[in-house]
Amino acid sequence: MDFKVRDLSLADQGELKIKWAENCMPVLLLLRDMYSESKPLSGIRVGAVLHVTKETAVLVSALKSAGAEVFLAASNPLSTQDDVAAALVKRGIHVYAWRGQTREEYYWCIRRVAESKPHVVIDDGADLHALIHDEYADLAEGIYGGTEETTTGVNRLRALESKGALKYPVIAVNDSYTKFLFDNRYGTGQSTIDGILRATNILLAGKVVVVAGYGWVGRGIAMRARGMGARRVIVTEVNPIRALEALYDGFDVMPMSKASEVGDVFITATGNIAVIRREHFEKMKNGAILANAGHFNVEIWIPDLEELAVEKKQILPSVVEYKLRDGRCLYLLAEGRLVNLASAEGHPSEVMDMSFANQFLAVKYVVENRGKLPVKVLRLPIELDEMVARLKLKAINVEIDSLTPQQQEYLQSWKHGT
Ligand code: ADE
Repeated sequence: MDFKVRDLSLADQGELKIKWAENCMPVLLLLRDMYSESKPLSGIRVGAVLHVTKETAVLVSALKSAGAEVFLAASNPLSTQDDVAAALVKRGIHVYAWRGQTREEYYWCIRRVAESKPHVVIDDGADLHALIHDEYADLAEGIYGGTEETTTGVNRLRALESKGALKYPVIAVNDSYTKFLFDNRYGTGQSTIDGILRATNILLAGKVVVVAGYGWVGRGIAMRARGMGARRVIVTEVNPIRALEALYDGFDVMPMSKASEVGDVFITATGNIAVIRREHFEKMKNGAILANAGHFNVEIWIPDLEELAVEKKQILPSVVEYKLRDGRCLYLLAEGRLVNLASAEGHPSEVMDMSFANQFLAVKYVVENRGKLPVKVLRLPIELDEMVARLKLKAINVEIDSLTPQQQEYLQSWKHGT
């Protein structure tokens, strides 16, 4: 079996971690058990580029149980859990991933996945989709469809679609309600704070936290920063509606040019480039901490920081000190990469349960509907999205009401008025 991981002897530790994740992933386990006999994915090669974590292990194992052969590479050079990668190899998954890859190694691994000639492509950030469209276009004919996990990846795929260049249908798993409302908000919200605290061990009480971007991720981070006792949470935005929402949710709103003067901790969550740059670094207080929660390491513009710095020092495993000419020091976490995955363990298993139940169902949907789906960026059908919510509620013993016949009739009628 072909694979490349850091150290196979870590497999036992990885296996324990995967079992721990399984405890909190009842929906995915249910789907695994539902299809482990009928094996609807028999003969299907799945090429996946995902963060190689214990939660991803539960997903790819469920896909294998359903009959698929899975090839897996990491979606970030710093997010792989090496013990989990080793355990997955022992479980019969072709893994090409280790923590601390160079850019060349990262793409070498993704190429191994592309060259496995997948029928279904699962991606997180769209690097694999982009590579296939760019350099392996001849493979597209054999691809029934793909899925995409993140907002950033879906944006890239929509750009591809709008140019008329998309070559196979892609299910935007990110756009399922049971994904973005939970994973992006509560998952990133909690794990980003977790990553910052594990990296630095700072006290949040008394701090001014600046959150750039008030999408679902930014909302989660701002909410959790407040909950952990930050003295003040400031939101920066470019979208007037989101800015207003942030204000009415109880946060201060101002441009980064002002926030940069007062913040202690800066967290980017915009999906855009150079959100914090030279003009902001120049105004920051001594000791300011810089962390990114967006998919790529472009939100904090590191080239400017490098240019401004006269000295650079690794202070802690995830903390680099940049000393500026005037003596101020700024602290960059996790090389500006996703702090929740690079300095902590990513989203908790409970939310990945729903995200990856959507992924599992999306792969099955693509296989069952091969040749029939339009070549577009699509949503998973709402019935499947709602099914995930129902299964989750059931798994955690929460009951809800259902409409009475009278209520159903009322909602469908235009006659009931004043
Ligand atoms: N993305 C964010 N958190 C994750 C996790 N725990 N596993 C896989 N992908 C993730």
